Amino acid sequence: MNLILLGPPGAGKGTQAKKIAEKYGVPHISTGDMFRETAQSGSELGKKLQSFMSAGKLVTDDIVIEVVKERLAKPDCAKGFLLDGFPRTVPQAEALDGILNGQKRKIDNVLCMKVADEDIINRLSSRRVCLACGESYNTISKPPKTEGKCDVCSGRVIQRADDNRETIAQRLKVYNEQTSPLVDYYSKAGVLKEVDGSKSVDEVFKNLVKVIG
Ligand code: AP5
Repeated sequence: MNLILLGPPGAGKGTQAKKIAEKYGVPHISTGDMFRETAQSGSELGKKLQSFMSAGKLVTDDIVIEVVKERLAKPDCAKGFLLDGFPRTVPQAEALDGILNGQKRKIDNVLCMKVADEDIINRLSSRRVCLACGESYNTISKPPKTEGKCDVCSGRVIQRADDNRETIAQRLKVYNEQTSPLVDYYSKAGVLKEVDGSKSVDEVFKNLVKVIG
């Protein structure tokens, strides 16, 4: 089962990806998580990645494609995978097709989550994440039991550098300009499934499972 989760920032891709990966036993591959991990290492590449992310801009296609190509070659992807946040441009989608063709594989479903811009701004400006384990919180719908402390690992819960209103607006602009053409790309390929991402987490998950079939 080879899946892609597509949708604007804050559509709930990360939230649903964890649940889908658990249900279907496929690895959850989030390019955003991978880049944040590299950024935390403080390496030269990490500093470069952080500068793109903090500005709400996309990391360049050559870097992203190389990272994903390496990740898809790992043994845990042999029986399938769930891509979250990749591809994000048409050249990335074409490169992915090339990688999979070479392995005689293809994408089965592209799950596109739709949420209104206003809801996205509210969700992301109230999102908090654990620096240590990555657990996601929300000051309105899912606050940690103790403020600033992760329920799972007691790590420090912070606001992501790109979750301020100005950067969220920039990320939405980038999505509309560079990523939304993928809706058409995958629709033409006959693999696009659209799901309303504005419902509750459980309802969205139920609908995703239904369309995965
Ligand atoms: P990335 O980490 O992929 O960020 P994103 O796509 O902007 O997505 P988010 O993580 O912000 O949101 P999400 O859709 O996962 O929502 P979540 O489940 O957390 O990428 C970050 C950066 O890395 C990019 O800007 C770019 O610089 C770079 N990058 C990554 N991939 C790249 C690529 N392929 N090419 C180039 N650059 C790349 O939910 C959001 C909030 O809403 C949470 O608080 C959650 O609790 C809440 N929530 C979720 N679902 C619901 C619901 N149903 N109802 C109410 N609240 C909900």
